[in-house]
Amino acid sequence: MLTDEALAQLVGETRVHRRVYNDPDIFDLEMARIWGTAWIFVGHDSMVPGPGDFITTTIGKQPVIMVRDTASGEVHVLANRCGHRGVKLAQRSHGTTRGFRCPYHGWSYRTNGALAGVPHPKGYDSPNAMRAEPCYQIKQIPRVDSYRGFYFASLAEDGPPLEAFLGDTKATIDNLTDRSPEGRIEVVGKVSNRFVQPSNWKNFVENLVDAMHPMVAHGATGKATAAYVDTLGEDASKPPEAEVIHPFGGSYDFFDTMGQTALPLGHNYMGGEKSIFSHYGLPDDYVDAMREAYGEERMHDILSFNRHNTTVYPSLAVRDGVQSIRVVRPVAVDETIIETWVFRLVGAPKALLDRTLLYSRLINAPGSMVGPDDLDCYYRMQRGLMSDLNDWVDFSRFAHDDQDAGHKKTGVGTSDLVFRNQYQAWLGYMTENANP
Ligand SMILES: [Fe+2]
Repeated sequence: MLTDEALAQLVGETRVHRRVYNDPDIFDLEMARIWGTAWIFVGHDSMVPGPGDFITTTIGKQPVIMVRDTASGEVHVLANRCGHRGVKLAQRSHGTTRGFRCPYHGWSYRTNGALAGVPHPKGYDSPNAMRAEPCYQIKQIPRVDSYRGFYFASLAEDGPPLEAFLGDTKATIDNLTDRSPEGRIEVVGKVSNRFVQPSNWKNFVENLVDAMHPMVAHGATGKATAAYVDTLGEDASKPPEAEVIHPFGGSYDFFDTMGQTALPLGHNYMGGEKSIFSHYGLPDDYVDAMREAYGEERMHDILSFNRHNTTVYPSLAVRDGVQSIRVVRPVAVDETIIETWVFRLVGAPKALLDRTLLYSRLINAPGSMVGPDDLDCYYRMQRGLMSDLNDWVDFSRFAHDDQDAGHKKTGVGTSDLVFRNQYQAWLGYMTENANP
């Protein structure tokens, strides 16, 4: 029985019990209490640019459709389920439509979810009244809101407003968007990569701010790149591939100086003053366009905002430095879908887009030089935690060195502060009446 007391025993100050990664009952409770209440990232405005454009995704276990209304232009998030017999309406990951028609009995709906037509309706008591009955419409997700084009939805009727939930992670979304001289970003093509990870969703969310693993898990790639860069000579510019991979071979000191910041509700970010991207060269024509748009001082602030991953717990990571996002979609206790989407900075030279596409291919894709290292480690962790010979997962690094700075805590880059922060939020969501 997963009482509040039993759940509290799974999360210590500096450790968590292995069951949080591999117990299907805990997974189901997470879907209800975390993914069923928090604001979950659904999609960016530019993923559905025109009337009738839609994407399909999930909020926890619920399949949903994000669609732009053909009449009003508004974005809706709808349950992907026919109001008749429950058949999934949109099967494809994306498309453009005038409405949704169920493939089974032909009930049809407008893009706002309203019932438009029922074939051969005379056997129903009042076919016209059906159009007003909530149970026959496609259900709208209770709360939908956006911040600078980033759409989130919550399955809970009540809760904090989106901006309060996002808190200081808004600054990362602002920075990603403001890196465009026009203050606008657009998704490039469709999803850049999407893969199934045979392990728990929290493995991935932890990894996004894990600075103790690159030099080990990605050590071979990092060392080979460093050896190659050494042959180039000090003043030579690096080929873009080497520029992207090189920091993954960085030292513990390099990652320590990036720093970690823990925010309320389990959000975190790595970096700030410095990140993996801070040594990236910037094309002159981009710097000129940014100076023209924002002025010298503001341009400097935007381009020196060096957060690495910002995690919006539990569903999203934003990387402003390479204009991309990672999206987390839990499927089962040991199965998770991960997506990478990349953005074009509107008004910026193509070289920046080329670099972000290169980054996605070299670092994040399932056939890349870095991502598979992580996948293998999550897989092994999931299997290792099946053993009950040791029940605990450790997060004690720099346990006594958190710096309290009002609404946030900071630590060195290799501190486990960020994991402790995630699990305090986890326990807050998971225990009833608690305020994470
Ligand atoms: Fe990694």
